[in-house]
Amino acid sequence: MSILDDKRILLVVTGGIAAFKALELVRLIKANGIHVRVVLTESGSKFVTPLSIQALTEDKVYTELFSLTDESEMGHIQLSRDADLILVAPATANILAKMRAGISDDLASTVLLATDKPVFVAPSMNVRMWEHAATQDNIGVLIKRGVEVLGPDVGAMACGEFGAGRMCEPAEIVQHVLSFLSLNKSLEGKTALVTSGPTLEPIDPVRFISNRSSGKQGYAMASALSKHGAKTTLVTGPTNLRDPSGVKVIKIETAADMLQACLDSLPADIAICAAAVADWRVVNNSEQKIKKRDSGSVSALELNENPDILKTLSQLHSNRPDLVVGFAAETENLINNAVKKRKNKGCDWILANDVSETTGTFGGENNLVHLITDKGSEEWPLMLKEDVAIRLVEKIVKEIER
Ligand code: PMT
Repeated sequence: MSILDDKRILLVVTGGIAAFKALELVRLIKANGIHVRVVLTESGSKFVTPLSIQALTEDKVYTELFSLTDESEMGHIQLSRDADLILVAPATANILAKMRAGISDDLASTVLLATDKPVFVAPSMNVRMWEHAATQDNIGVLIKRGVEVLGPDVGAMACGEFGAGRMCEPAEIVQHVLSFLSLNKSLEGKTALVTSGPTLEPIDPVRFISNRSSGKQGYAMASALSKHGAKTTLVTGPTNLRDPSGVKVIKIETAADMLQACLDSLPADIAICAAAVADWRVVNNSEQKIKKRDSGSVSALELNENPDILKTLSQLHSNRPDLVVGFAAETENLINNAVKKRKNKGCDWILANDVSETTGTFGGENNLVHLITDKGSEEWPLMLKEDVAIRLVEKIVKEIER
Protein backbone atom coordinates (compact mmCIF):
# COMPACT_ATOMS: atom_id res chain seq x y z
CA MET A 1 0.00 0.00 0.00
CA SER A 2 1.32 3.45 -0.92
CA ILE A 3 1.54 6.32 1.60
CA LEU A 4 -0.81 8.21 -0.74
CA ASP A 5 -3.56 5.58 -0.84
CA ASP A 6 -5.73 6.93 1.95
CA LYS A 7 -5.10 10.62 1.20
CA ARG A 8 -7.93 12.98 0.32
CA ILE A 9 -7.74 16.30 -1.51
CA LEU A 10 -10.45 18.95 -1.60
CA LEU A 11 -10.11 20.82 -4.90
CA VAL A 12 -11.65 24.29 -4.97
CA VAL A 13 -12.28 25.48 -8.55
CA THR A 14 -12.86 29.22 -8.92
CA GLY A 15 -13.87 31.28 -11.94
CA GLY A 16 -10.91 31.77 -14.24
CA ILE A 17 -10.28 30.72 -17.82
CA ALA A 18 -7.94 28.00 -16.47
CA ALA A 19 -10.93 26.33 -14.74
CA PHE A 20 -11.12 23.90 -17.65
CA LYS A 21 -7.74 22.53 -16.48
CA ALA A 22 -9.49 21.37 -13.29
CA LEU A 23 -10.64 18.31 -15.25
CA GLU A 24 -7.05 17.33 -15.98
CA LEU A 25 -6.13 18.02 -12.35
CA VAL A 26 -8.86 15.69 -11.14
CA ARG A 27 -7.75 13.01 -13.59
CA LEU A 28 -4.10 13.22 -12.50
CA ILE A 29 -4.90 13.27 -8.78
CA LYS A 30 -7.11 10.20 -9.16
CA ALA A 31 -4.51 8.45 -11.30
CA ASN A 32 -2.19 8.66 -8.27
CA GLY A 33 -4.70 6.83 -6.12
CA ILE A 34 -5.82 9.91 -4.17
CA HIS A 35 -9.46 10.62 -3.44
CA VAL A 36 -10.57 14.02 -4.74
CA ARG A 37 -13.72 15.97 -3.93
CA VAL A 38 -14.55 19.27 -5.67
CA VAL A 39 -16.06 22.56 -4.52
CA LEU A 40 -17.02 24.69 -7.52
CA THR A 41 -17.77 28.42 -7.15
CA GLU A 42 -20.63 30.04 -9.04
CA SER A 43 -18.21 31.82 -11.37
CA GLY A 44 -16.19 28.60 -11.75
CA SER A 45 -19.34 26.92 -13.04
CA LYS A 46 -19.43 29.43 -15.94
CA PHE A 47 -16.21 27.84 -17.25
CA VAL A 48 -16.66 24.18 -16.33
CA THR A 49 -19.87 22.34 -15.51
CA PRO A 50 -20.52 20.34 -12.33
CA LEU A 51 -21.60 17.46 -14.56
CA SER A 52 -18.24 17.14 -16.31
CA ILE A 53 -16.36 17.27 -12.99
CA GLN A 54 -18.74 14.76 -11.44
CA ALA A 55 -18.18 12.36 -14.30
CA LEU A 56 -14.49 12.27 -13.39
CA THR A 57 -14.67 12.36 -9.59
CA GLU A 58 -17.62 9.93 -9.45
CA ASP A 59 -18.71 12.03 -6.49
CA LYS A 60 -21.05 14.95 -5.89
CA VAL A 61 -19.70 18.40 -6.79
CA TYR A 62 -20.33 20.89 -3.97
CA THR A 63 -21.50 24.34 -5.04
CA GLU A 64 -23.80 25.89 -2.46
CA LEU A 65 -23.34 27.07 1.08
CA PHE A 66 -27.03 27.13 1.91
CA SER A 67 -28.14 23.87 0.33
CA LEU A 68 -30.19 21.79 2.78
CA THR A 69 -29.21 18.52 1.16
CA ASP A 70 -25.50 19.36 0.88
CA GLU A 71 -25.32 20.55 4.48
CA SER A 72 -27.03 17.46 5.79
CA GLU A 73 -24.85 15.10 3.71
CA MET A 74 -21.51 16.93 4.02
CA GLY A 75 -21.47 20.30 5.83
CA HIS A 76 -18.89 22.94 4.97
CA ILE A 77 -16.90 22.20 8.13
CA GLN A 78 -16.93 18.49 7.36
CA LEU A 79 -15.74 19.13 3.79
CA SER A 80 -12.49 20.63 5.07
CA ARG A 81 -12.17 18.19 7.99
CA ASP A 82 -12.44 15.30 5.61
CA ALA A 83 -9.47 16.44 3.48
CA ASP A 84 -5.70 16.10 4.05
CA LEU A 85 -5.07 19.12 1.88
CA ILE A 86 -7.09 21.84 0.12
CA LEU A 87 -5.98 22.88 -3.36
CA VAL A 88 -7.43 26.04 -4.92
CA ALA A 89 -6.88 25.80 -8.69
CA PRO A 90 -7.35 28.03 -10.47
CA ALA A 91 -7.18 30.64 -7.72
CA THR A 92 -8.51 33.99 -8.93
CA ALA A 93 -7.48 37.39 -7.55
CA ASN A 94 -10.94 37.46 -5.96
CA ILE A 95 -10.58 34.26 -3.92
CA LEU A 96 -7.07 35.27 -2.83
CA ALA A 97 -8.42 38.61 -1.59
CA LYS A 98 -11.26 36.85 0.25
CA MET A 99 -8.83 34.39 1.84
CA ARG A 100 -6.62 37.22 3.03
CA ALA A 101 -9.56 39.21 4.44
CA GLY A 102 -11.39 36.21 5.90
CA ILE A 103 -14.53 36.83 3.83
CA SER A 104 -16.85 33.84 3.77
CA ASP A 105 -19.75 34.62 1.48
CA ASP A 106 -19.98 31.35 -0.45
CA LEU A 107 -19.11 27.69 0.06
CA ALA A 108 -15.51 27.91 -1.26
CA SER A 109 -14.50 30.90 0.89
CA THR A 110 -16.30 29.49 3.94
CA VAL A 111 -14.48 26.16 3.63
CA LEU A 112 -11.18 28.02 3.28
CA LEU A 113 -11.88 30.08 6.40
CA ALA A 114 -13.00 27.05 8.38
CA THR A 115 -10.03 24.84 7.62
CA ASP A 116 -6.91 24.07 9.60
CA LYS A 117 -5.54 21.84 6.83
CA PRO A 118 -2.60 22.75 4.53
CA VAL A 119 -3.80 25.00 1.69
CA PHE A 120 -2.15 25.20 -1.75
CA VAL A 121 -3.20 27.86 -4.28
CA ALA A 122 -2.41 27.99 -8.01
CA PRO A 123 -3.08 31.61 -9.03
CA SER A 124 -4.49 32.35 -12.47
CA MET A 125 -5.31 35.85 -13.68
CA ASN A 126 -4.37 38.67 -16.02
CA VAL A 127 -0.77 39.88 -15.60
CA ARG A 128 -1.85 43.32 -14.38
CA MET A 129 -4.16 41.80 -11.79
CA TRP A 130 -1.31 39.54 -10.62
CA GLU A 131 1.17 42.41 -10.45
CA HIS A 132 -1.26 44.78 -8.73
CA ALA A 133 -0.02 45.83 -5.29
CA ALA A 134 -3.25 44.54 -3.73
CA THR A 135 -2.75 41.00 -5.09
CA GLN A 136 0.96 40.97 -4.20
CA ASP A 137 0.08 42.18 -0.73
CA ASN A 138 -2.55 39.45 -0.36
CA ILE A 139 -0.13 36.79 -1.57
CA GLY A 140 2.54 37.98 0.90
CA VAL A 141 0.10 37.73 3.81
CA LEU A 142 -1.17 34.29 2.73
CA ILE A 143 2.41 32.97 2.44
CA LYS A 144 3.16 34.24 5.96
CA ARG A 145 0.13 32.32 7.17
CA GLY A 146 1.52 29.14 5.62
CA VAL A 147 -0.41 28.98 2.33
CA GLU A 148 1.71 27.33 -0.37
CA VAL A 149 1.64 29.33 -3.62
CA LEU A 150 2.34 27.39 -6.84
CA GLY A 151 3.26 29.67 -9.75
CA PRO A 152 1.87 31.45 -11.63
CA ASP A 153 3.75 30.79 -14.86
CA VAL A 154 4.84 33.46 -17.32
CA GLY A 155 3.49 33.26 -20.86
CA ALA A 156 0.85 34.28 -23.37
CA MET A 157 -2.55 34.77 -21.76
CA ALA A 158 -6.08 34.13 -22.95
CA CYS A 159 -6.68 37.92 -22.88
CA GLY A 160 -3.91 38.42 -25.47
CA GLU A 161 -1.38 39.87 -23.04
CA PHE A 162 1.95 38.34 -22.03
CA GLY A 163 3.36 38.01 -18.55
CA ALA A 164 2.99 36.28 -15.17
CA GLY A 165 -0.49 35.00 -14.40
CA ARG A 166 -0.94 31.68 -16.24
CA MET A 167 -1.90 28.83 -13.96
CA CYS A 168 0.88 26.22 -13.61
CA GLU A 169 0.41 23.08 -15.64
CA PRO A 170 -1.73 20.46 -13.83
CA ALA A 171 1.14 17.91 -13.85
CA GLU A 172 3.40 20.37 -12.03
CA ILE A 173 0.70 21.21 -9.48
CA VAL A 174 0.02 17.54 -8.82
CA GLN A 175 3.74 16.82 -8.41
CA HIS A 176 4.02 19.50 -5.68
CA VAL A 177 0.95 18.21 -3.92
CA LEU A 178 2.12 14.59 -4.08
CA SER A 179 5.55 15.38 -2.72
CA PHE A 180 3.95 17.31 0.15
CA LEU A 181 1.56 14.46 0.97
CA SER A 182 4.39 11.91 0.81
CA LEU A 183 6.53 13.79 3.34
CA ASN A 184 6.46 12.64 6.87
CA LYS A 185 6.46 15.45 9.39
CA SER A 186 9.42 13.97 11.19
CA LEU A 187 10.72 17.33 12.43
CA GLU A 188 7.44 18.29 14.12
CA GLY A 189 8.27 19.85 17.51
CA LYS A 190 11.77 20.87 16.36
CA THR A 191 12.97 24.41 15.65
CA ALA A 192 15.37 25.36 12.89
CA LEU A 193 17.39 28.44 12.00
CA VAL A 194 18.74 29.06 8.50
CA THR A 195 20.96 31.86 7.18
CA SER A 196 20.81 32.73 3.51
CA GLY A 197 21.73 35.17 0.77
CA PRO A 198 24.50 37.77 0.67
CA THR A 199 25.21 40.45 3.24
CA LEU A 200 25.69 44.08 2.22
CA GLU A 201 28.44 46.05 3.93
CA PRO A 202 28.03 49.79 3.31
CA ILE A 203 30.88 51.96 2.00
CA ASP A 204 28.75 55.10 1.97
CA PRO A 205 24.98 55.72 1.70
CA VAL A 206 24.83 54.42 -1.89
CA ARG A 207 27.70 51.94 -2.24
CA PHE A 208 28.36 48.61 -0.60
CA ILE A 209 30.51 45.44 -0.64
CA SER A 210 28.58 42.26 -1.40
CA ASN A 211 28.64 39.05 -3.46
CA ARG A 212 26.60 37.10 -6.01
CA SER A 213 24.61 34.84 -3.66
CA SER A 214 20.97 34.62 -4.77
CA GLY A 215 19.71 33.00 -1.56
CA LYS A 216 18.25 30.04 -3.53
CA GLN A 217 20.11 27.37 -1.55
CA GLY A 218 19.25 28.88 1.84
CA TYR A 219 15.58 29.44 0.94
CA ALA A 220 15.34 25.84 -0.28
CA MET A 221 16.79 24.66 3.06
CA ALA A 222 14.26 26.70 5.06
CA SER A 223 11.39 25.48 2.90
CA ALA A 224 12.40 21.80 3.21
CA LEU A 225 12.81 22.05 7.01
CA SER A 226 9.41 23.70 7.33
CA LYS A 227 7.72 21.12 5.10
CA HIS A 228 9.12 18.39 7.36
CA GLY A 229 7.38 20.07 10.29
CA ALA A 230 10.21 22.14 11.85
CA LYS A 231 9.31 25.62 13.11
CA THR A 232 11.74 27.48 10.91
CA THR A 233 13.29 30.95 10.97
CA LEU A 234 15.15 32.22 7.92
CA VAL A 235 17.58 35.11 8.42
CA THR A 236 18.41 36.43 5.00
CA GLY A 237 20.30 39.14 3.21
CA PRO A 238 18.64 40.87 0.24
CA THR A 239 17.28 38.50 -2.45
CA ASN A 240 14.64 38.56 -5.17
CA LEU A 241 12.97 35.41 -3.87
CA ARG A 242 9.46 34.91 -2.58
CA ASP A 243 9.34 34.10 1.16
CA PRO A 244 8.97 30.33 1.72
CA SER A 245 5.51 29.57 3.09
CA GLY A 246 5.12 28.97 6.80
CA VAL A 247 8.66 30.21 7.52
CA LYS A 248 9.43 33.22 9.72
CA VAL A 249 11.62 35.44 7.55
CA ILE A 250 13.93 38.07 9.07
CA LYS A 251 15.48 40.41 6.50
CA ILE A 252 18.82 41.99 7.29
CA GLU A 253 21.63 43.67 5.36
CA THR A 254 24.88 43.48 7.30
CA ALA A 255 26.75 40.56 8.88
CA ALA A 256 26.44 42.23 12.30
CA ASP A 257 22.64 42.37 11.92
CA MET A 258 22.56 38.75 10.69
CA LEU A 259 24.46 37.62 13.78
CA GLN A 260 22.16 39.56 16.10
CA ALA A 261 19.03 38.19 14.37
CA CYS A 262 20.39 34.64 14.69
CA LEU A 263 21.21 35.03 18.38
CA ASP A 264 17.74 36.53 18.96
CA SER A 265 16.18 33.50 17.22
CA LEU A 266 17.72 30.94 19.59
CA PRO A 267 17.08 28.41 20.98
CA ALA A 268 16.98 26.21 17.88
CA ASP A 269 17.50 22.48 17.52
CA ILE A 270 19.04 22.77 14.05
CA ALA A 271 21.07 25.60 12.48
CA ILE A 272 22.07 25.70 8.82
CA CYS A 273 24.37 28.52 7.65
CA ALA A 274 24.03 28.85 3.88
CA ALA A 275 24.56 32.62 3.76
CA ALA A 276 27.47 34.10 1.86
CA VAL A 277 28.43 36.49 4.63
CA ALA A 278 30.85 39.22 3.59
CA ASP A 279 34.06 38.46 5.46
CA TRP A 280 34.91 42.15 5.89
CA ARG A 281 33.12 45.41 6.57
CA VAL A 282 34.30 48.95 5.93
CA VAL A 283 35.67 50.69 9.01
CA ASN A 284 33.94 54.05 9.58
CA ASN A 285 31.79 53.89 6.45
CA SER A 286 31.06 57.41 5.24
CA GLU A 287 27.77 59.12 6.13
CA GLN A 288 28.06 61.21 2.95
CA LYS A 289 28.51 59.94 -0.59
CA ILE A 290 32.26 59.77 -1.21
CA LYS A 291 33.29 62.23 -3.94
CA LYS A 292 35.53 61.40 -6.87
CA ARG A 293 38.92 63.11 -6.59
CA ASP A 294 40.28 65.48 -9.25
CA SER A 295 43.55 63.51 -9.19
CA GLY A 296 41.67 60.37 -10.31
CA SER A 297 43.12 58.42 -7.39
CA VAL A 298 40.93 56.42 -5.02
CA SER A 299 41.41 56.36 -1.29
CA ALA A 300 41.91 52.86 0.10
CA LEU A 301 39.09 51.37 2.12
CA GLU A 302 40.03 50.21 5.58
CA LEU A 303 38.40 46.86 6.30
CA ASN A 304 37.67 44.98 9.51
CA GLU A 305 36.77 41.32 9.83
CA ASN A 306 33.06 40.62 10.28
CA PRO A 307 31.70 38.37 13.03
CA ASP A 308 31.59 34.72 12.01
CA ILE A 309 28.00 33.58 12.49
CA LEU A 310 28.58 29.86 11.88
CA LYS A 311 31.54 29.82 14.25
CA THR A 312 29.65 31.76 16.92
CA LEU A 313 26.65 29.39 16.78
CA SER A 314 28.93 26.33 16.77
CA GLN A 315 30.91 27.48 19.78
CA LEU A 316 28.10 28.72 22.01
CA HIS A 317 28.37 27.39 25.57
CA SER A 318 24.68 27.58 26.27
CA ASN A 319 21.91 27.40 23.69
CA ARG A 320 24.12 25.70 21.07
CA PRO A 321 21.82 24.06 18.49
CA ASP A 322 22.06 20.24 18.63
CA LEU A 323 23.13 20.12 15.00
CA VAL A 324 25.02 22.96 13.30
CA VAL A 325 25.60 22.69 9.55
CA GLY A 326 27.70 25.04 7.46
CA PHE A 327 28.59 25.38 3.79
CA ALA A 328 32.13 25.70 2.48
CA ALA A 329 32.34 27.75 -0.69
CA GLU A 330 35.67 26.88 -2.32
CA THR A 331 37.35 27.44 -5.66
CA GLU A 332 40.31 25.05 -5.07
CA ASN A 333 41.23 22.05 -2.85
CA LEU A 334 37.51 21.61 -2.19
CA ILE A 335 37.58 18.70 0.24
CA ASN A 336 40.78 19.59 2.14
CA ASN A 337 39.70 23.17 2.65
CA ALA A 338 36.21 22.15 3.71
CA VAL A 339 37.54 19.59 6.21
CA LYS A 340 39.75 22.31 7.73
CA LYS A 341 36.82 24.75 7.76
CA ARG A 342 34.59 22.29 9.63
CA LYS A 343 37.24 21.87 12.34
CA ASN A 344 38.05 25.55 12.57
CA LYS A 345 34.43 26.67 12.87
CA GLY A 346 33.39 23.81 15.15
CA CYS A 347 30.24 22.91 13.20
CA ASP A 348 29.01 19.30 13.04
CA TRP A 349 28.62 18.97 9.28
CA ILE A 350 29.76 21.05 6.35
CA LEU A 351 28.59 20.93 2.74
CA ALA A 352 31.49 21.67 0.43
CA ASN A 353 30.53 23.26 -2.87
CA ASP A 354 32.75 24.39 -5.70
CA VAL A 355 31.92 28.02 -6.47
CA SER A 356 34.36 28.55 -9.35
CA GLU A 357 32.78 30.78 -11.98
CA THR A 358 32.24 27.92 -14.45
CA THR A 359 30.12 25.90 -11.98
CA GLY A 360 27.40 28.57 -11.75
CA THR A 361 26.80 27.59 -8.09
CA PHE A 362 26.38 31.20 -7.00
CA GLY A 363 23.02 32.29 -8.37
CA GLY A 364 22.34 29.10 -10.37
CA GLU A 365 19.66 26.43 -9.96
CA ASN A 366 21.96 23.47 -9.25
CA ASN A 367 24.56 22.54 -6.71
CA LEU A 368 27.11 19.74 -6.49
CA VAL A 369 28.02 19.19 -2.85
CA HIS A 370 30.13 16.91 -0.68
CA LEU A 371 28.76 16.28 2.79
CA ILE A 372 31.59 16.26 5.31
CA THR A 373 31.02 14.94 8.82
CA ASP A 374 33.28 13.49 11.52
CA LYS A 375 32.91 10.16 9.70
CA GLY A 376 34.33 11.34 6.38
CA SER A 377 32.91 12.77 3.19
CA GLU A 378 30.33 11.67 0.64
CA GLU A 379 29.82 13.15 -2.80
CA TRP A 380 26.27 13.87 -3.92
CA PRO A 381 25.37 14.08 -7.59
CA LEU A 382 24.67 17.43 -9.25
CA MET A 383 21.15 18.31 -8.12
CA LEU A 384 18.65 21.14 -8.04
CA LYS A 385 19.19 23.22 -4.90
CA GLU A 386 15.72 22.13 -3.73
CA ASP A 387 16.82 18.48 -3.98
CA VAL A 388 20.06 19.18 -2.10
CA ALA A 389 17.89 20.68 0.64
CA ILE A 390 15.53 17.68 0.75
CA ARG A 391 18.45 15.24 0.88
CA LEU A 392 20.12 17.17 3.68
CA VAL A 393 16.89 17.34 5.67
CA GLU A 394 16.44 13.57 5.25
CA LYS A 395 19.96 13.12 6.66
CA ILE A 396 19.12 15.45 9.54
CA VAL A 397 15.95 13.47 10.32
CA LYS A 398 17.99 10.24 10.49
CA GLU A 399 20.63 11.90 12.70
CA ILE A 400 18.01 13.26 15.09
CA GLU A 401 16.19 9.91 15.27
CA ARG A 402 19.42 8.06 16.24
O1 PMT B 1 22.74 31.75 -2.61
P1 PMT B 1 22.94 30.86 -3.83
O2 PMT B 1 23.08 31.65 -5.11
O3 PMT B 1 21.89 29.79 -3.91
O4 PMT B 1 24.35 30.10 -3.66
C1 PMT B 1 24.51 29.19 -2.64
C2 PMT B 1 25.86 29.35 -1.93
C3 PMT B 1 26.98 29.05 -2.91
C4 PMT B 1 26.00 30.77 -1.40
C5 PMT B 1 25.85 28.33 -0.72
O5 PMT B 1 25.72 27.03 -1.24
C6 PMT B 1 27.14 28.45 0.07
O6 PMT B 1 28.16 27.87 -0.24
N1 PMT B 1 27.08 29.24 1.17
C7 PMT B 1 28.26 29.58 2.00
C8 PMT B 1 29.00 30.72 1.35
C9 PMT B 1 30.24 31.13 2.13
O7 PMT B 1 30.32 32.26 2.54
O8 PMT B 1 31.09 30.18 2.35
P2 PMT B 1 32.47 30.32 3.19
O9 PMT B 1 33.25 29.13 2.85
O10 PMT B 1 33.07 31.67 2.98
O11 PMT B 1 31.98 30.25 4.70
C10 PMT B 1 31.90 29.03 5.41
C11 PMT B 1 30.68 29.01 6.28
O12 PMT B 1 30.77 30.03 7.28
C12 PMT B 1 29.36 29.22 5.60
O13 PMT B 1 28.41 28.36 6.21
C13 PMT B 1 29.03 30.67 5.88
O14 PMT B 1 27.61 30.89 5.95
C14 PMT B 1 29.64 30.87 7.25
N2 PMT B 1 30.11 32.21 7.54
C15 PMT B 1 31.16 32.77 6.86
C16 PMT B 1 31.63 34.00 7.22
C17 PMT B 1 31.00 34.70 8.28
N3 PMT B 1 31.42 35.91 8.62
N4 PMT B 1 29.95 34.15 8.91
C18 PMT B 1 29.50 32.92 8.58
O15 PMT B 1 28.53 32.43 9.15
